[in-house]
Amino acid sequence: MAADHKGFTLWMTGLSGSGKSTITEVLIDSFEARDVPIEVLDGDIVRENLSKGLGFSKEDRDTNITRIGFVADLLARNGVPVVTAAISPYQETRDAVRKQHEQSGARFIETFIATSLEDCEARDVKGLYAKARSGEIPVFTGVSDPYEAPGSPELAVETAGKTPEESAATILAYLEAERLIPAA
Ligand code: ADX
Repeated sequence: MAADHKGFTLWMTGLSGSGKSTITEVLIDSFEARDVPIEVLDGDIVRENLSKGLGFSKEDRDTNITRIGFVADLLARNGVPVVTAAISPYQETRDAVRKQHEQSGARFIETFIATSLEDCEARDVKGLYAKARSGEIPVFTGVSDPYEAPGSPELAVETAGKTPEESAATILAYLEAERLIPAA
């Protein structure tokens, strides 16, 4: 039988390459170990289906985030733990998703994956920062397009000098303390 848990949306926001997807992988394993279900809405994957065809203008990003927020809310309000991993650069759009959750009575946990631009760029896992600097990608978050860090997130995870497991542990501790998932 599945362990005791509640529905919620853990909304990760952070620069490209900040570690959102990697931390999500650790969370998936940790939830599985606790016998707790989890649904993941990752920007890179959502853009291959639900948001296929959308680009990176403010309008398209807002559409992408609104869609992810809509699905997350549907799941969370029906008792499913949801993790989202999209840059979601605009505070106003994140606040709109928060409001939607509040209206349906679902928990919304804005989680800032706080990795500096320098660190994201130094790693440049996908090679996109190099392309942004060379101008091959003319508009790129953090380089030539805005990223609005959350003003008052429920959680801020400073990743500098930490492993993805350590960063995920901060999140798991919060979820346990809020009694949204059982202790390991
Ligand atoms: S969001 O702004 O709409 O939230 P999302 O998280 O879905 O973005 O997608 C971001 C990913 O798309 C990045 O991690 C990167 O791999 C890729 N990408 C391609 N072009 C851009 C761009 N111009 N700005 C930001 N990310 C981009």
